[in-house]
Amino acid sequence: MSAIDYAEKIPNNVNLAGDRTLQRALEHWQPQFLQWWREMGPNDFAGAEVYLRTAISVDAQGWAHYGKVRMPDYRWGIFLADPVAERKIGFGDAMGQAAWQQVPGEYRSTLRRLIVTQGDTEPASVEQQRRLGHTCPSLYDLRNLFQINVEEGRHLWAMVYLLHAYFGRDGREEAGELLARHSGDADKPRILTTFNEPVSDWLSLYCFTYFTDRDGKYQLKSLAESAFDPLSRTCRFMLTEEAHHMFVGETGLSRVVKRSLEVMKETGSDDPDRIRAAGAVDLPLLQRYLNFWCSSSLDLFGSEISSNSAANFANGLKGRPDEGQYEDHVLREQTLNLVTPQGAADVPMLNALNEVMRESYLKDCEVGLKRWNRMIERAGHDLRLSLPSARFRRSIGAWAGQAVDPQGNPVPRQRYENSLAGWIPSEADKAFVHSLMRKVIEPGRMAGWIAPPERGINNLPLEHEYVKLH
Ligand SMILES: [Fe+2]
Ligand SMILES: [Fe+2]
Repeated sequence: MSAIDYAEKIPNNVNLAGDRTLQRALEHWQPQFLQWWREMGPNDFAGAEVYLRTAISVDAQGWAHYGKVRMPDYRWGIFLADPVAERKIGFGDAMGQAAWQQVPGEYRSTLRRLIVTQGDTEPASVEQQRRLGHTCPSLYDLRNLFQINVEEGRHLWAMVYLLHAYFGRDGREEAGELLARHSGDADKPRILTTFNEPVSDWLSLYCFTYFTDRDGKYQLKSLAESAFDPLSRTCRFMLTEEAHHMFVGETGLSRVVKRSLEVMKETGSDDPDRIRAAGAVDLPLLQRYLNFWCSSSLDLFGSEISSNSAANFANGLKGRPDEGQYEDHVLREQTLNLVTPQGAADVPMLNALNEVMRESYLKDCEVGLKRWNRMIERAGHDLRLSLPSARFRRSIGAWAGQAVDPQGNPVPRQRYENSLAGWIPSEADKAFVHSLMRKVIEPGRMAGWIAPPERGINNLPLEHEYVKLH
């Protein structure tokens, strides 16, 4: 077990005290981070006391320590999972050689780019979610939002530590830029499109945490395989926190479905107008939100055919999620049959790894869909929710800009243009969802459009005052 020294200015288990130069550099970045949090984080709730989980060590007992905290006082720190003794590179052309404790010169800029791209998403999501506290459906949900926010802040710290510790001056400059770009900013936007989309209602938040945080999980899993050992150890610990974000998405959407089914039963109708009049989300509306956020998140995996991902794999920088589940870790001989608008073709597996990753991601996304459809079936309704095809509404890769319906079938361009507004949330849909967003802050109470969760946080009752607002 690696204990975290909370007496230090920056809690860490990387022996920061043993490297004065690095410690000073990070202590210089820390006030910039706090200023960013005060300006771009959930700053209207700076005085709220939130029942938060803080990591006090990285082992099973210590990483989930609960207590009331004001968010600006959260102890953001640097925690790496314990090292694996004599860890070897697990894939690519250098498989079997010792993992790297330093960055090899030839991979320096590529690794830095991978770390910056991951790091950029973390503060971006805090910025996207910063106003949601004003419309929380319950104190339980408000607390979960803030838990995610502080952890995304910590994930930024994780990446900034790597930049400072291993990339010298370039790394320090990149760490500054991570606080200078902002989600949706016209001049200095965040790097990836999904992280510039507004998340201005809670239905979008649950979709974002279901689909977009799950992309994060898959990126972290593939970086956890990296030959660059500090990156691997950082990502392994981040994954323990990431699981909670997807829990919020999956249970949030389950509760929306549950409430919709209750209202369908009460009204004896599945007519969207009647469901809406009763203050709940109709299931076709939910389907359009799923279509939007799933298709946007699918772009995050990049082009179907990518020489960058081939090189990253061959060189040991980025593996496949759960690399251990595969037989062949070198992939010089394998091909994948890929269908593009030009037809089907066998392409070298190494060049198709983005697609391999996207497919395993989609399989993971199916889990919630199955659960929600079972609920709908048990309630006696024929409608089924589904994931959109990976070809639908893509902006990156072979299917970018193609006229394809959510089932993946090519349709005439004109029909596509006319139908698209009905496949993703329309302005009227968004206005309706926004009309449901009213702050509910009495302990234990829930907004009318969402069912209560099955249990509270850390075995506390649902009625617990998870956030004390001032
Ligand atoms: Fe994160
Ligand atoms: Fe996350």
